[in-house]
Parts: sequence; structure tokens; C-alpha cells
Amino acid sequence: EGLGALAVKAGLQYFGTAIDNVVLDNKNYTSIAFNVSEFNQVTPSNGMKWMYFEPQRNVFNATLADQIVKPARKAGQLRRCHTFIWHNQLPGWLTSRNWTAPELTAVLENHIKAEARYFKDDCIAWDVVNEAFNDDGTWRDTIWLRTLGKSYIELAFTFARKYVGKKTMLYYNDYNVERVNNKSLAVVELVKDFKKRDIPIDGVGLQAHFTVGRSPSYNETSASIAQFNKLGMEVAITELDVRLALPDTAEKSEAQAKVYADTVKACVDAKDCVGVTVWDFWDPVSWVPETFPGNGNACLWTEGFVKKPAYYAIQKVFQDA
Ligand code: G3I
Repeated sequence: EGLGALAVKAGLQYFGTAIDNVVLDNKNYTSIAFNVSEFNQVTPSNGMKWMYFEPQRNVFNATLADQIVKPARKAGQLRRCHTFIWHNQLPGWLTSRNWTAPELTAVLENHIKAEARYFKDDCIAWDVVNEAFNDDGTWRDTIWLRTLGKSYIELAFTFARKYVGKKTMLYYNDYNVERVNNKSLAVVELVKDFKKRDIPIDGVGLQAHFTVGRSPSYNETSASIAQFNKLGMEVAITELDVRLALPDTAEKSEAQAKVYADTVKACVDAKDCVGVTVWDFWDPVSWVPETFPGNGNACLWTEGFVKKPAYYAIQKVFQDA
């Protein structure tokens, strides 16, 4: 039995993975990626992002997303959808112009409407807004904030609620929020404010891009999940990976396994943490080496498709639950 099947027995909705388009021609890869026993949930790593889904204004393209959504649906895997509003991977037509607030609001609604309707009942959850805060808890300087002010987040959630399927959960998603810290407290404030003013929001995604030697402990992750559960938010671990400084050693792999296990266990033990998604499972497609040169081996499977200690550590968490 794979991790997805074991996760369900342990009380989670899913254990899943992000999948990118660049490796879909690799049979070794796809036979694991679309195996519902191993992963009963998938997230497209890129295809749903603005630059791919609306490459020209009002021209929509689901090709990349569908390459992942369709086989996932066929395999019986749940889908998380990622992401409507981000500051990264925006198309040139959007970033190269000075929009007025009403213009950009219309652009935002048009995009969310088209994409939400296209994937209507495909998504158990949408990451409506991604990475809106700085680590110190201030609002990240983006085209959205500069043009629309702080109201852009509530606009996005309100439009999302209007156009996505009724059962789709609306998430705010971010990294470095896996501890109680300035950034996660800013998200807490956002949620409180939304609740007070009846703005729709259902969940908070903790990305969990971790590094061996500096990762949150089980207790720290548990405390962060709890602060959102207390406000009635469901939580998901949405982009888990654990990078290490290369070269890899047996000690580092064991330390990595403990981080994976602690994070998964914090989710399993929480009041309302619905699932865990790894941000790809195969080292050669991980985003890590390109972004953090000298770091890597962040995933559960080696380049040669051998399962690492981290895989077995997660398996044990589910079996012991
Ligand atoms: O679009 C080109 C394509 O035309 C070309 O053939 C290909 C070959 O290299 O490159 C393509 O662009 C790459 C794109 O992924 C699609 O594969 C970019 O160079 C690359 O930088 C981009 O990286 C993605 C990154 O977000 C962008 O910031 C990663 O795959 C993706 O895993 C990563 O995911 C983010 C989450 O969305 C949000 N949280 C952090 C996470 C990790 O950065």
C-alpha cells in the first residue's frame, strides 16, 4: 500500500504530490505520479498559474493544466488547484502596463471567473491567494497591492466564491508560516478580519518548504496549525519538501526523514489538517537546485527512483496513527 492509501486509513483526506509537465514523458515518473495508492491527490506545479492559463489578455489555455488534471481524474486522485493570485509567473501583458484600480479589478475578476469555471468541480481546494506577506508580517509589495491596496485579497476571495464549485475550499497559501511567528500572525489577522466582515475563506495552506537543520519541530508546526484551526480554518500542508546541503550523507538523510515524519505527524494529530502534498516526489524535477544552488535531494525518491528513509518514516507515521 502506498502513502495515499495509508494516509486515508490514518484519518487524512489525502497524501499527494505536485506534478510538473516537463517529466510527463517519463514512464517511471508517471507510473508513480498517477498511482492513486501512492498519491491520492495531485497539484499541478505550474499549469494553472496566470502566465500559462491566460497568456494573452482574455485568451485562456488549459493545455498544461489538463495534462495533469485529466490523468489524475482518471486515476481517481483528488485535485488541489494552484493558484489564482500570485506575484510570480504573471504574463507580460499584465505586468508591463500601468492599470487603474477599476481596470485591474476587472482583469482579476475576468481571470478568476474563467479559470474557476473551467475547473469547476475539479478542485477540492483553490489556493486563491499565494504568498501575500513578507516574513516580518508586512504586506508584500506586488502589482496587486500597489494598484488595488489591501482590498485585493478580499476581492480575490469574493470572486473565487462566486465562480468556483460550491464544495471547493478557498485557501490562503504561504511559506514560513509553519511556526507561530510574525508572518503566520499576519495570516491570523487576515482570517480574523475576514470572519468579522463575512469575507469567504475556508482554509490556510502551510507550504512547508524546509531545510535540514532549520526546520520547525513537531510542536512548532502543531502550534501553527492550531492557531488556524482555532479560527475555524481547515489546514493543509501544501508544498512539503526538505532540502539539504549537498553532498548528501546518511546522517542528513536521516535528519530529513525526521523532518518529513514530524510534519506529517503534526497534520495527522491536528484537529483539522486535511492532508499533505509534497512539492514533487522526484529529485530531478524539484525546484530546489535551481533556486538554492548547492542544495537538493529534497524529495522522497532518488534520481534512480529509489525510496529514501523519508518515505519509510512517513509510512511509519501513518501505520502508527
Ligand atoms: O515556461 C518555461 C518553458 O517554456 C521551458 O520549456 C522550461 C524549460 O526549463 O522552463 C519553463 O519555465 C519554468 C517553469 O517553472 C515551468 O517549468 C521556469 O523556468 C521555472 O522557474 C518555473 O519554476 C517554478 C516556480 O514555482 C516559479 O517560481 C517551479 O516549477 C514550481 O515548482 C514553483 O512552485 C512554487 C509554488 O508555485 C509556490 N510556492 C513556492 C514553490 C517553489 O518555488
